[in-house]
Amino acid sequence: MKIVVIGGSGLIGSRLVNQLREHGHEAVAASPNSGVNTVTGEGLAEALKGTLVVVDVSNAPSWEDAAVMKFFETSTRNLLAQEATAGVRHHVALSVVGTDRLLQSGYFRAKMAQENLIKASSIPYSIVHATQFFEFIKGIADISTVDNKVPLPPVLIQPMAADDVARAVGRIAVGPPVNGTVEVGGPEQFRLDELVRRYLEVRKDPRQVVTDPHAHYYGIEVSERTLLPGDDARVGEMRFETWLSQQSQSPSAKQPVRKAG
Ligand SMILES: NC(=O)c1ccc[n+]([C@@H]2O[C@H](COP(=O)([O-])OP(=O)(O)OC[C@H]3O[C@@H](n4cnc5c(N)ncnc54)[C@H](OP(=O)(O)O)[C@@H]3O)[C@@H](O)[C@H]2O)c1
Repeated sequence: MKIVVIGGSGLIGSRLVNQLREHGHEAVAASPNSGVNTVTGEGLAEALKGTLVVVDVSNAPSWEDAAVMKFFETSTRNLLAQEATAGVRHHVALSVVGTDRLLQSGYFRAKMAQENLIKASSIPYSIVHATQFFEFIKGIADISTVDNKVPLPPVLIQPMAADDVARAVGRIAVGPPVNGTVEVGGPEQFRLDELVRRYLEVRKDPRQVVTDPHAHYYGIEVSERTLLPGDDARVGEMRFETWLSQQSQSPSAKQPVRKAG
């Protein structure tokens, strides 16, 4: 089966393309790097020829409120219009658990707009809501740092490995459209402050996490369960400590700075 992965060069996209190919699918990585731009429309019609499934795991280059909204609205509109022309039968998009509870942030308002466009379109779809990636924990620390301290609220979080996110998205992409939202999360729950503290400790990062029930998560007021998926969530396999030890064993252990999401 030909499957076009929009954002196929990204953290999730590159893993997804590899996993789909390992399962014998013709996975096409589509992104500006390979001449496919969903914002300008460049290369899109050509890339979608003969495909029944499109997976959108792209992300906006800028997270400023207006820019991120423009990205997800324009990109999703272009994509869905071209999919209708190409006869695509399943649109899969990756979004974030609790998006509708995080609308204080411009990023999540843009993700909500993306989801609403998908739901209103004529293309059968599956929206995958994933929890925060382990690979994104450094981004949470970075955005929360003030004067070398990291104030964070002790709310619950159920993060997961990017490999598990890609696996979950891949399984859904090769199945029938659910015309709804599927939640995926990690196998364990943590307190956000403790998770980031542990990550920084293992990375020998001197920043100190300060537990503060009033601190914000990404500029958003969150309560105990805001970031958690529901009881029906599909659960990934990789445990946090296993992932951490794999990171420190790898020669390229330094994580790139992840933005948000
Ligand atoms: N971070 C989290 O914890 C988290 C949790 C749940 C869900 N998510 C969601 O997961 C998704 C993927 O995130 P990620 O971290 O894997 O993203 P990422 O690594 O930042 O990759 C972004 C991808 O988008 C592509 N892209 C950028 N502009 C594009 C355009 N105009 N047209 C087509 N493709 C474009 C990039 O292509 P180039 O390389 O060619 O520039 C790249 O392949 C996001 O939508 C995010 O909301 C994130």
